[in-house]
Amino acid sequence: MNTTVDEPLINDTIEYITTLFQNVHDGHDVAHSLRVYRMALMLANQESRVNMKVLSLAALLHDVDDYKLFATRNNENARKFLLEKNIDAETTEHICQTINDVSFIRNRGKKPATLEGKIVQDADRLDAIGAIGIARAFAYGGSHGRTFEASVRHFYDKLLLLKDEMNTASARKLAEFRHIFMEKFLDEYDREMTAT
Ligand code: ADP
Ligand code: NI
Repeated sequence: MNTTVDEPLINDTIEYITTLFQNVHDGHDVAHSLRVYRMALMLANQESRVNMKVLSLAALLHDVDDYKLFATRNNENARKFLLEKNIDAETTEHICQTINDVSFIRNRGKKPATLEGKIVQDADRLDAIGAIGIARAFAYGGSHGRTFEASVRHFYDKLLLLKDEMNTASARKLAEFRHIFMEKFLDEYDREMTAT
């Protein structure tokens, strides 16, 4: 049995990230965090003994201290918000640990320590692949002044590696499908590029 969470807390968290991300338009926006949250809930449905409060808050807050977006240290934004919401110290640590386990760069090859970390990491990675992943890669590239070629390189550097790095069985299944779609996209992209 998974635990349950109170709705007002979730709504306040969504309101917080909506404000925080209002000026971010590089595929890292609030819509990304909301998709990660919904995907994390779906994946959690297939697992037992998930701490849903930790899972939900970690999914919604997973990018609030991302170094690419904010110059905070030690999960400062997440901690400030959780303190305001009177979340106890133990839960706060569990949430911050989960958030810190999600990052691809920081944790290359390492598996998250907690089940909640595994699920949120899977949800975040699923949002980087498939049709959504393609859209995000070009949105990110465009907002950083990169060419199409540079964004396409990112598929080979990172996105095509993600399907083999999923933690949960249900994410692995979804990743397979999204991976094949990206391969099809890249084939057609090459075909069109070389024909002109
Ligand atoms: P997250 O923090 O959500 O795990 P990242 O911060 O690594 O993911 O990247 C956010 C989005 O931007 C992802 O969809 C990713 O594929 C894309 N992205 C990151 N780096 C690049 C890049 N060099 N070129 C194109 N897209 C990129
Ligand atoms: Ni993310």
